[in-house]
Amino acid sequence: MKRLIYPLVALFFLAGCYGYEDPGPVINYKNNPVDNGPTPYDLVIPAGLPPMDIPADNPMTVEGIALGRKLFYDPILSKDSTQSCSSCHNQSHGFTDNGKKFSVGIDGMEGNMNAMAIINVGWSEEFFWNGRETGLEAQAFQPVINPLEMHDDWDNVLYKLQRHPEYPLLFEDAFGTQTITSDLATKAISQFERTIISGNSEYDKFRRFEPSAGFGQSEFNGYQIFFSERGDCFHCHSKDLLADNSYHNNGIDSVYDDTNWGRFEITQDSVDLGKFKTPTLRNIEFTAPYMHDGRFATLEEVVEHYNSGVKVSPTVDPIMTKPGKEFGLQLSAQDKADLVAFLKSFSDPNFLSNPDFSDPNP
Ligand code: HEC
Ligand code: HEC
Repeated sequence: MKRLIYPLVALFFLAGCYGYEDPGPVINYKNNPVDNGPTPYDLVIPAGLPPMDIPADNPMTVEGIALGRKLFYDPILSKDSTQSCSSCHNQSHGFTDNGKKFSVGIDGMEGNMNAMAIINVGWSEEFFWNGRETGLEAQAFQPVINPLEMHDDWDNVLYKLQRHPEYPLLFEDAFGTQTITSDLATKAISQFERTIISGNSEYDKFRRFEPSAGFGQSEFNGYQIFFSERGDCFHCHSKDLLADNSYHNNGIDSVYDDTNWGRFEITQDSVDLGKFKTPTLRNIEFTAPYMHDGRFATLEEVVEHYNSGVKVSPTVDPIMTKPGKEFGLQLSAQDKADLVAFLKSFSDPNFLSNPDFSDPNP
């Protein structure tokens, strides 16, 4: 406190002596007496990934990201203070839920969707398996109030944050105000999420013609299957993000009810039955189990699905059943093993242990 009072007193005397009031540098009632607001953050995007659109009303700042990271790891966002975003989005599992098929919320109730990876989400505009939320900021609002997840209400969360010893100051650092709102809290979380970038896997190194020790003959054969008519994977898992920000029916079901309506739940248009957001395949080795309902335990099972298990229905993607694919992909045992090896080349060990993404208060 003393540090703040001295400059104020000095200003008072100066103004008195010279008889005019120079507003002088802005004085902020916090650690830094002369503060020009939050520090702009320069987002570094690994070569090979596209530029990211940052919303104009939520520019990234060092202080905003630090606050968002703290919030992401803080169980204060849940009603009984037992669950944080990271409870279901664990870094070492590619920000998915610890190998669980379905997540369990604070009341012990299980949902019916597999937790999605938070990897390169800064390149998505629509979120959740059925794309029901537009914008990361809007997405981050939901888990807090979801009865199957953190089951709190924002008024209560804001009350807890507001009387917390650190948060009002951290919000001031990030946004210039100590008055905490859900708008600012979700903005901070989104800033942090936009930094969660994976782009230095063996696959990326191979694409950039860098030495990639983990990319041998097997991976290369898998690569050729993935990016050719043989596997046709690239149509939806496109080359840089390994996702296309669109919805498809990849033939895992042919009968639909409220657990697998997918995009139809939002559009109510029958052409969207069984279509789900294409998930990224980055760090797929660590995000088992697979698909919106976690039905496949291993990558081998996933590959076998595409090879021989596609179910036909009116909304199945035409790529899955195009001429020549009537009897599946016809991959040999070696091809399937190579495709799995290639999927594992999307693993980015530095991402999974990057200290910038870890719990700031371990
Ligand atoms: C109880 C477990 C749980 C908690 C806690 C949780 N999530 Fe999730 N998250 C999920 C599940 C399950 C999904 C997929 C749900 C669906 O599609 O219906 C998901 C989806 C997401 C997605 C969508 C990703 C995409 O590509 O569309 C984002 C982003 C996300 N969560 C961020 C968060 C944030 C931020 C928090 C904390 C405020 C949080 N989650 C808390 C389980 C959880
Ligand atoms: C027509 C678009 C399309 C094609 C082609 C396609 N996928 Fe997918 N993939 C999807 C969609 C959509 C999902 C999620 C479906 C769901 O959860 O119900 C998915 C899920 C996956 C998953 C699980 C991801 C996770 O996080 O659970 C893997 C692995 C995968 N695909 C690999 C492949 C491979 C390998 C190929 C080629 C043999 C391929 N995909 C071809 C659209 C496609």
